[in-house]
Amino acid sequence: MAKNVNFEPSRTLMEFRLLPGLSSKKTVPEEVSLRTQLVYSEKDEKKYYLNIPIVSAAMQSVSGAKMGIELAKLGGTAFIFCSQSIESQAKMIFKIKNHKAGFVKPKTMKPDMTVKEMYKIRKETGHSTFPVVDDNEIFLGLISKWDYDISLHKDYLVKDRMIPKENIEIGTNITDLKEANRVLLESHKSVLPILDNNGKLLYMIFRKDINDQLNNPLEVHDEKKRLLAVAAINTHDFKERVPKLVETEVDVLAIDSSDGYTIFQKDTIEWINKNYPEIPVIGGNIITKEGFRFLVDSGSGSVKVGMGGGSICITQEQKGTGRGLATTIIDIAEERDKYFKESGKYIPIVADGGVTSTKDITIALALGADYVMMGRYFARMEESPTEKIVVNNRVMKPYWGEGSARACDWKLKRYNQAKFIEGVEGLVEYAGRLRDNLDETLIKIKSSMSTCGVKNIREFHEKAELELVSALAIREGKVHDIYQGTESKEIQELPETDY
Ligand code: IMP
Repeated sequence: MAKNVNFEPSRTLMEFRLLPGLSSKKTVPEEVSLRTQLVYSEKDEKKYYLNIPIVSAAMQSVSGAKMGIELAKLGGTAFIFCSQSIESQAKMIFKIKNHKAGFVKPKTMKPDMTVKEMYKIRKETGHSTFPVVDDNEIFLGLISKWDYDISLHKDYLVKDRMIPKENIEIGTNITDLKEANRVLLESHKSVLPILDNNGKLLYMIFRKDINDQLNNPLEVHDEKKRLLAVAAINTHDFKERVPKLVETEVDVLAIDSSDGYTIFQKDTIEWINKNYPEIPVIGGNIITKEGFRFLVDSGSGSVKVGMGGGSICITQEQKGTGRGLATTIIDIAEERDKYFKESGKYIPIVADGGVTSTKDITIALALGADYVMMGRYFARMEESPTEKIVVNNRVMKPYWGEGSARACDWKLKRYNQAKFIEGVEGLVEYAGRLRDNLDETLIKIKSSMSTCGVKNIREFHEKAELELVSALAIREGKVHDIYQGTESKEIQELPETDY
């Protein structure tokens, strides 16, 4: 006989609705804050907070460098997938960390390099402006894409095409970012090299970064104003992968696994906490209170919850394991709050898999999630790493699970793992740029929270009132009993009737 059989069915997010609370001027949507804790850190550092409660899933078809950059600018973060070589994942994290900053330590060029050699580095890094320095790091000039044409100048030396330092506005020994920005804005130039008293290059400041900061008030960044970067890892090659990711200055690590209640996760988390205590680790996925305690006791700083609900997931069918996401969140949030009372440590929980619409996000947050992870939502965006295709006149993007045959191929070659598939491959309708979609999503979440009379996520957890609704109530909540045909509605005159 089984140890336990629960006859109470587990519930999905779709089955709940929110009841309104008293709204006031303090809870109008414009006043609602979506700020939330990404991961527990002992010193409660600012950089471990997100400004929106949404992250993108660690998947090949979702979270590459482009998504990492754009989502961090918009207040969330992408979990950069680990089903790729250590080198290519490290490159993605490097790109995110070096995309923008206040003080940038840029890649430098030597004066005697050819333009062709420099151009190769430009392609690799994606940067278009480079400082030129001698062997002692003394600044000599700048070379940018406007200074050469690769077809004409490939055999020239960099020193022959660069703008020499005499013609460049330079800052000396500036250490305050505000002051550096002021000098740059006064200079009419797009870049400001900062040198020490001996002429050695210290940093560069870019005008596009200042504009970026103004355009993206929710941006999440580290103490040096570099975008936040989160990397997924696995429990197989972490001893080689983590050091390389740390070299690229990754901020947070997250174990990507469908089952987090394992000794392998404990070993991985403990190893990272011992060797890199400054880098928080997110564990998961788990769906029980025991799983949550296990990961937290192992040192997990945040926990991903959910199993079997993803849009591309066939885990429940293949293995019979899983649980409705709403029940999972309710159970784990209760345990998280209990743990907080006991220890004073607040461990955020991340609802993952099957969060489909904006109302799902809102219900997940109301039930106790601190933020949600989504795959399908982001796979549809311009910034996901896949190419658009046209099928039956509709623009689509491919989306596949990390446990699908397509992704498993990589795991099979590397670890001889993945004996059967747990995910499928499909298409999702292209939705355009992330920032346009996200805006609407966030407004809707804020509006729901406003209706519930709360002004932030912690208050939402404390005050939200939800109700399980019947299948008929869900039907009632949809458009019904009206004609909404899409075919042309030519209005015809009716013959007059004589009553
Ligand atoms: P979605 O937002 O419903 O598309 O679900 C995304 C989530 O599904 C991810 O964050 C993972 O937790 C999970 N997932 C990703 N790939 C697979 C798979 O192949 N099988 C099962 N679950 C998967």
